[in-house]
Amino acid sequence: MTEPKRYLITSALPYANGLKHVGHLAGAYIPADIYVRYLRAQKRDVVFVCGSDEHGTAIPIQAMKENTTPRAIIDKYHEAMKQDFADLDISFDIYHRTSEPLHHETAQEFFTYLHDRGELETKETEQYYDPEANTFLADRYIKGTCPNCGSDRAFGDQCENCGTALSPDELINPVSTLSGRIPIKKKTTHWYLPLGRHEEFLREWILKQHKDDWRATVVGQCKSWIDGGLQSRAVTRDLDWGIKVPLKEAEGKVLYVWFDAPIGYVSATRQWAIDNKKDWKPYWYDKDTKLVHFIGKDNIVFHCIIFPIMLRLHGNVLPENVPANEFLNLEGDKMSTSRNWKLEMRDYIKDFVKKDNGGGQCVDMLRYYLTQIAPETKDSEFTWKGFQDAVNSELVSIFGNFVNRTFVLMHKLCKGKVPRFHEDILDDTDRGLISDIQNSKSKVENLLEQYKFREALYEVIDLSRKGNQYMQKKEPWIVAKKLTSDTNAGVQESAQKSIDNTLHLCLQLSANLAVLINPFLPNTARNMIHMMKVVEKILDWENAGKLKLLSVGYSLREPQLLFRKIEDTEVTEQMEKLKKGMINPSKVEKSEEPKSPEQPAVKPEIVYDDFAKLDLKVATITAAEKVAKADKLLKLEVDLGFEKRTIVSGIALHFKPEDIVGKQVVIVANLAPRKMKGIDSNGMILMAEDKDGKLKFINPDETTSDGASVS
Ligand code: 2FM
Ligand code: ZN
Repeated sequence: MTEPKRYLITSALPYANGLKHVGHLAGAYIPADIYVRYLRAQKRDVVFVCGSDEHGTAIPIQAMKENTTPRAIIDKYHEAMKQDFADLDISFDIYHRTSEPLHHETAQEFFTYLHDRGELETKETEQYYDPEANTFLADRYIKGTCPNCGSDRAFGDQCENCGTALSPDELINPVSTLSGRIPIKKKTTHWYLPLGRHEEFLREWILKQHKDDWRATVVGQCKSWIDGGLQSRAVTRDLDWGIKVPLKEAEGKVLYVWFDAPIGYVSATRQWAIDNKKDWKPYWYDKDTKLVHFIGKDNIVFHCIIFPIMLRLHGNVLPENVPANEFLNLEGDKMSTSRNWKLEMRDYIKDFVKKDNGGGQCVDMLRYYLTQIAPETKDSEFTWKGFQDAVNSELVSIFGNFVNRTFVLMHKLCKGKVPRFHEDILDDTDRGLISDIQNSKSKVENLLEQYKFREALYEVIDLSRKGNQYMQKKEPWIVAKKLTSDTNAGVQESAQKSIDNTLHLCLQLSANLAVLINPFLPNTARNMIHMMKVVEKILDWENAGKLKLLSVGYSLREPQLLFRKIEDTEVTEQMEKLKKGMINPSKVEKSEEPKSPEQPAVKPEIVYDDFAKLDLKVATITAAEKVAKADKLLKLEVDLGFEKRTIVSGIALHFKPEDIVGKQVVIVANLAPRKMKGIDSNGMILMAEDKDGKLKFINPDETTSDGASVS
């Protein structure tokens, strides 16, 4: 797509049936917010919409659990979720709700439009009915065994285990969740969207046009859906909670929640336009709009297949990309509401943000960690130790430390003012840093444009790391000694010039870091511009990569620490809280138990090119030792034949260091370096994990030469 005129960015509308956890935040909200802040910094025309998904059976089910009405449930959770997002600085332009009349009207118009043009089919079918509860059973009220993965955590609409969308008829051994009875079949008429009619379009649009720019996991899931045969999907339900089907003959029926929810993006845009006196239509009808849906992987089919079919039939723009994220686990296990194994946004807000000094440090710490571990290509894991490490060894020790040192030294050695820059004494170290600053904009930008938020953030932190290295090399505090110890005027002058240059460049780099970090950590950027005493305009993206953001002679404020450390006691407290709150798995309904390892669990298909990106090499472990204060980590030295490397591996609970020295292993040799417990880890050792969680090395069946390629 050429440069779009406007952007419409959406985050999945969360169900208003409970508080959301940090897995949701990492999946659909933080990445969208980073992208939007980046676009806003570029002065693009962008609207960021979201809102509560207030229909579907999840709502009356929660009302039954809380012994109240569906209305009370949506009011309570809508307000709570809205507040939580605001507290974590997710900067929606509007946070709407699907119970609003404007949304009902918009969804009904959509239905009528498709219906009147013959794009829907009706079918009389036999549906499950609970004779004891006297009601047709909505999909969510039926549970049973998943035909895809065999899990008994499947409901009539979707398997909670493998994420496959289902229809109730596909469930094996269905049971009514209302009465526990085996349901009977009764006749009813519903309206269907015949997906099969659109197969050719989907193949062309997703599997050809977007095969390279959409994430492989997204294209893979779509491909299996299309190849599996596209069934017609009912878009109405026998239910009394939802949007009435706008047809006389559909008395007592409502629109299926997955028909109305994505239309929520349209109604939210309409409400935003009303509130801001704008025209909403170009955002949904003009081909120069770039529409991007940020979602979790369980929502892929709805956003990549069903909703695009509806949009296309209705004459709207189609999404340009759907960067879906995988899932985030917590401390070695899936997050689960029923087992209370989760970290809700609200808990973090209460325990960290509200106790913070008001500068948003703790908000940014969470945003940082969740981006650093973002499950962009595979499931990832939140651990409190990992959080502590990310904050203490990266935010505090690298980024914060660089900015702090720069300001402290500038106050000490340059009278609190931006010092002059003396071109005549420029050396290669200065030139190196200048080119790192100049190149940073395009590096970060390219990654953001490809929705690679993890890597983009890594680049920003890496730039601050380079700042530290530069400072370390220049040692202005040592040079400063000459100012007092040497009385020769010439020596003093050249010492001051060297100090000036070092701190001038470090200050310009700090200003650049503020611009680059702003989409990710907006509070940090704000705190930095306060210290630099400059206006917010400095954060415009066009300023990234520039060297004269701060004027010579301008006086700056005293530094404030940008981040505080996370103490060991905080980690311990959170771990205790998590374990204490956990509901014993034996007390949880069997259907909620985590996936059994016997079940097939193959990740979505990838293409050969994805595999070919991996550089797998044979290496020998030449030394191994435990990492201090990290139960699970071993520091390994490996020999690749042509090169020796350090790799930090989470295998300490499985192997003694002395038992593994001399072993040949296979490593991922081209994995981006990562700092773990302050040690740079350059690669990853491949391991096989059996169903009991035991680890074994992968190695050649006979010793081979180190450095041999594995393919
Ligand atoms: O999975 C969910 O939480 C859904 N409420 C997401 C809906 S996204 C969109 F379609 F509104
Ligand atoms: Zn399944």
